[in-house]
Parts: sequence; C-alpha cells; structure tokens
Amino acid sequence: MDVTIVLLTLVSFVTCKDCYWNARCPYQLFSSKTPYESVRGDLRDENMPNCQPISLWSLHRHGNRNPNTQVTEEINELQKKIISEISLAYENNRTQLTNCFQDIEDLLHWSWNTTLETSPSYLTGIGYEEIFDIGKRVRQKFETLLSGTSDKFYFRPTNEQRTITSAIAFVHGLTYGTKANLTGSIDGASEEDNVIRPYESCAKYQEDVKKGQTLVDQLALYDSSPEVLAVRDRVQRHLGIHYQVTVADTYNLYELCRFHRSWSPKLRSPWCSFFSNEDLEVMEYRDDVRHYYRNGHGSEINVNLGAAPLKDLYENFENATLNRGKNIVSYFTHDTMFEMVISALGLYKDTEPLQGASRNANRLWRTSEIAAFSTNLIAVLFKCQEQGDEIYRVQFLLNEKLTTLCPEAGCTWKQFVDKFQIFKNTNFEFCLNKKYLFKPNTNRGVNISIMSFLMLLPILIIV
Ligand SMILES: *[C@@H]1O[C@H](CO)[C@@H](O)[C@H](O)[C@H]1NC(C)=O
Ligand SMILES: *[C@@H]1O[C@H](CO)[C@@H](O)[C@H](O)[C@H]1NC(C)=O
Ligand SMILES: *[C@@H]1O[C@H](CO)[C@@H](O)[C@H](O)[C@H]1NC(C)=O
Ligand SMILES: *[C@@H]1O[C@H](CO)[C@@H](O)[C@H](O)[C@H]1NC(C)=O
Ligand SMILES: *[C@@H]1O[C@H](CO)[C@@H](O)[C@H](O)[C@H]1NC(C)=O
Repeated sequence: MDVTIVLLTLVSFVTCKDCYWNARCPYQLFSSKTPYESVRGDLRDENMPNCQPISLWSLHRHGNRNPNTQVTEEINELQKKIISEISLAYENNRTQLTNCFQDIEDLLHWSWNTTLETSPSYLTGIGYEEIFDIGKRVRQKFETLLSGTSDKFYFRPTNEQRTITSAIAFVHGLTYGTKANLTGSIDGASEEDNVIRPYESCAKYQEDVKKGQTLVDQLALYDSSPEVLAVRDRVQRHLGIHYQVTVADTYNLYELCRFHRSWSPKLRSPWCSFFSNEDLEVMEYRDDVRHYYRNGHGSEINVNLGAAPLKDLYENFENATLNRGKNIVSYFTHDTMFEMVISALGLYKDTEPLQGASRNANRLWRTSEIAAFSTNLIAVLFKCQEQGDEIYRVQFLLNEKLTTLCPEAGCTWKQFVDKFQIFKNTNFEFCLNKKYLFKPNTNRGVNISIMSFLMLLPILIIV
C-alpha cells in the first residue's frame, strides 16, 4: 500500500517536463571538464586545395582525467551525505524530490568508484581514446607526413601521468595499422620545461598571479553573486533534504555532475539532475573567471608566458622551409599552458575584462571552447602550387576547426612571419621583475584610436 502511494507521488513529478531525465536538450558545456566530443570539429574536413603538407606542429591538453585529490575527497563526502538523505526521504515518504523518477532511481543505484581515490588526476580510458582518435585523424588526413625516419618526429609531454599517457595515446593513434613505430620519438619529460610549462618556474607568475589577490577577489565576487546564491537556493529546494547546502557544496555537486557525466556513454548523469540548464550556465562561468585571471587575458604575465610554445612553433616551421624541419612535432601539456597560448595569440579576447560579480552571457572567453579535455592547436605548413609558383601556406586548427588567425586559404608565409616572429624573442627575464617582452594591450591601442575617431566624428561634422 505504502509503495503504491510513493509511486503515485513520484509519478506526479514525472509530468514535470523540464526535469533532467526527460529533458530534450541538456546543456553540453562544462568549462574545463567539457568532453572533447562536445566541442570538436574534424580536421579531415578542412581542405587546402593544391597544397602538400610538409610539417605539422601541435599543442595538446591531456585527455579526460580523474578529479584531483582535493576534489575527490570533497565530492566523496558530499555524495555520501546526499545519497543517504535521499534514500531516507524516498523510503519514508517524506520526499520533496522534484527530480525525474528515473534520475532518483539512477542515483539510488549509483555507487562510488574507489579507483578515484587511488588514481587522482590520472588519464581515464575515455581520455586515452580521445587523444588516440586525434592521432588517428591526423594520420588519415596527413598520411604523407608519416613516412620518414624517426628523427623526423618529436613528441614531448610534461612530467605527469596524464600527459605522458596522452603522448603515448597520440603516437599510438598516429601509427595504428601502419608499420611505423614512433614510440622512440617520445622524449622524456623533465621536471622543469621552459617550452610547455614555463609558468612553474616563473616566480612572478607564482606570486602575482597564481597566489595573487585578484584571483581570490574575483572568485569571492562570483561566489557571492546573486546568480550563484539563487542556484544554491534552487539546488537546496531541488534536493528536498534537511542538510543546508552551501555555495561550496553547490560547486562540488557540479563537479560530481560534470566528471561523472563525462564518463558515461550518453554524457548524462543523475548528479546533473539537481541543476536546470540555466543553473549549469551559471556554474560554467566560475572556471571562466578563474582561468581568465589565472591563465588568460586577465594578466599580461600570462600573455607573455604563452609566447614560449609559439617561439618553438615559429622555429620549427622556419627550419622546415630550410629543408631541415621535422614532419611532426607535438607537445602534451595542461589547460594553463593552452590558455596562455590562446592569450598570447590574442584570441577569445573580450573588450571588457571578465567580472566575477556579473556574467556576460555573450563573452568570448569560454573555457568550454579553449580548455575542454584534449583541446588542441594544430598548425600545418603546406607547400602550394599557385599560378605556376610554389608558395608556403600555414593553416591553424583549434579543436579541429578553423581559427581567425589566418584566412580560410591559410596564411601566406609572410602573413605567418608578420604575426609570429615577435615570439622568437621570447625570454623569461620578466619573471625576475624585469621588463616585459611585449604588452598585451598594444593591439587595443589601435581599437581605442578607431573608437575615439568615431566618437569625434559627430563633432567634426558639426564643426
Ligand atoms: C505519504 O505521502 C502522501 C501524499 O503526500 C500522504 O497522503 C501520506 O499520508 C504519506 N504517508 C506517510 C506514511 O507519511
Ligand atoms: C572504476 O573506474 C575504473 C577506472 O576508470 C574503471 O576501469 C572501472 O571499470 C570502474 N568501476 C566501476 C564499477 O565502474
Ligand atoms: C617500438 O620501439 C620501441 C623503442 O624505440 C621498442 O621498445 C618497442 O618494442 C617497439 N615496438 C614494436 C611493436 O616494435
Ligand atoms: C632549427 O635548426 C637548427 C639547425 O639545425 C637547430 O639547431 C634548431 O634546434 C632547430 N630548431 C628547432 C625548434 O627545431
Ligand atoms: C580590435 O577590433 C577588431 C574589429 O572590431 C577586432 O576584430 C579585434 O579583435 C580587436 N582587437 C583587440 C585587441 O581587441
């Protein structure tokens, strides 16, 4: 009898059409924990007619990984608390649960995987597949680059399990089904890497940015913003349990949701059922703010550090035009490095700095796009036949999609040199409080002068 009543109660909730399990279009973007499949294009569809690839350089963030030790501990605590309260509510008919029936059932059948505790931050099987597949697509598209002796290839990860295994996955995909064995071209990782992890040894970055007050302040503004407090209150009502949910709990619930869904085949998880799509957009913004100040346009220290891999790119392609280049050079690093590179390139740059206190829904800076798992920048140097001449062109792909760095037909060599030779002078003197290599705001000067001219225009006309 009791069971029937419980069922009837829950059935009435199922009619609520926007509960998670029944929702038609759940939100797909989860900032730095976004699965690669949600944001990637396909490099095999990007054509360069009448061109032959001669060198490829790429920078990769590692694939899908486990949460780090701290997040693992926090979400483990939270899941225990929530599951026990929800099952109590479910059994005692005290339920205020507004989730879909299926979501509650899935939560009650869910169990914590203890592997998370023994392998924090490790690359997952899904992460391996993501990177393997990128390697496979590179092979399919640029097959001619695969021929050549092993000294024509160079791969290097940072000194972490997740990046080292990503490098292996990439080379595996690159050579799968061929006779090539390029394992020997994977260089050993070193503790200090001034090309793909220069921020670790940059004192100015560690002090002023990573441990800096701006980051703390902006995150505090975000955490106390009306939007975030409203999400916390909605989550509290949605959970329908006595336990008082804090903003930190709300964020940990979001962590449970976004990690767990990234490991499920359909990219869904009952842990996401406590959030509406609008809530998820608010949660997504936290990493955007954090990364903007820690790794992005929010500090010119970040912009200057981002130049390091770009110097390597420039020199590799310069060498390739002198017939002493490599066929493929690939690095495996972290979202921190990747976002610094994006910033050094002036991409995804908003005219106004991001504000923790208020979210601009139309912002350009989106970690979902530039710091998803397995995010990558692939640059390809081509030799092209144009009106009887042979010329070089460079194509850039970000997550296997064209960027605004070059026209659709690729940059000419001159366009490439004009944009990239500045990076050749990169050094880390500024880490010791010396002069900056270049100011990130120089481009804005141009925009400001155009703006002020436009603003002067009416005055000029009146005069
Ligand atoms: C269970 O919930 C129903 C509907 O709210 C209520 O009528 C019933 O009395 C409750 N039963 C118990 C045992 O609390
Ligand atoms: C736990 O995680 C590991 C590593 O991702 C995986 O191999 C294993 O199948 C998982 N176990 C369960 C019960 O899901
Ligand atoms: C590939 O080369 C590495 C060393 O360069 C060697 O250890 C490994 O056994 C080789 N693998 C195959 C399948 O031949
Ligand atoms: C470019 O070639 C020169 C001469 O062979 C070499 O010393 C240098 O290391 C190369 N640069 C890169 C980035 O490979
Ligand atoms: C300057 O303005 C142009 C056109 O509005 C824009 O594409 C470019 O990104 C702006 N540059 C900067 C540094 O804001």
